[in-house]
Amino acid sequence: MADSTLDTDEVAGIYDELLKTYSKQWDHEGHRSLHLGYYDEDHDEPAGAAINTMRILSEAANVTESDRVLNIGCGAGEDSVWNARAHGATVLGVNISENQLELARENAREHGVEELTTFRYDDFHELGTVEDGSVDLVWGLEAVSHSQDRRQVLDQARRVLAEGGRVAFTDLFVRTEPSDRERDRIDQINDALGLRLGRIGEFEETLSAVGFENVTVRELTDGILPCTKRRRQFSRIAHPVGRVLGVFGVVSETQVGAFRASSNIHELAESGTLGYYLVTADRD
Ligand SMILES: C[S@@+](CC[C@H](N)C(=O)[O-])C[C@H]1O[C@@H](n2cnc3c(N)ncnc32)[C@H](O)[C@@H]1O
Repeated sequence: MADSTLDTDEVAGIYDELLKTYSKQWDHEGHRSLHLGYYDEDHDEPAGAAINTMRILSEAANVTESDRVLNIGCGAGEDSVWNARAHGATVLGVNISENQLELARENAREHGVEELTTFRYDDFHELGTVEDGSVDLVWGLEAVSHSQDRRQVLDQARRVLAEGGRVAFTDLFVRTEPSDRERDRIDQINDALGLRLGRIGEFEETLSAVGFENVTVRELTDGILPCTKRRRQFSRIAHPVGRVLGVFGVVSETQVGAFRASSNIHELAESGTLGYYLVTADRD
């Protein structure tokens, strides 16, 4: 699958399947985020670290009450709801999964920010429901890694941004030229999670080519390693157990593939092949 077309229905299907695992974690930890947690001395447990990632990205993006934020790949609404609650920003979240959109609306209602948030179906390569120049910030928390055409995503982001607008992303990227063995493991991650992990340098160049200025890239890998390590520990138990249960149809092939991908992500991030980056840029 790694070099073939990435079908959005397929990506949505993977997420729908993984929601079964995520929802148990959400119930336990009291949030609905689908992203990696950033650990530091003030945030040393999973829920706090997950909030910390949103805090760091929103600080870098300088989110304020007057901002109209477009959240591309809004998951179950956690980062949209958080920006509405923490900053009073108005947020439009788009996603290609109706199940996640419904969870996002529910999340907003539960936190009393349904007036500030809208969630609707749109592919971030198209943004067909978003008017030209209608938002101040395009926010993507672990979303663009799902794109096989990041130039198209950035072209659309630029189109929908108003003058003076900006973009802010955090995501996993490939840092160094992978060996054949590392490439196989990246392909496994891509296949299992519906990703197309790309080079950070290439993303930076594409931002400039599309017409963004003041591109900044900050590496956050060390802070997410405790989170990837935790996921790997879980996967080390869940992967073999899942394979056995998979024979009886209790755990799906998608879930088993995701467990293996979690181990690969941690090991490749620890060895330096993958990095976690925060990227900001201004519309020219
Ligand atoms: C890792 S999750 C992050 C979700 C959310 N930002 C969060 O932090 O919880 C990536 C999200 O991107 C969405 N996504 C993937 N491809 C997409 C596309 N082409 N257009 C819109 N959303 C997409 C997925 O459905 C998923 O919700």
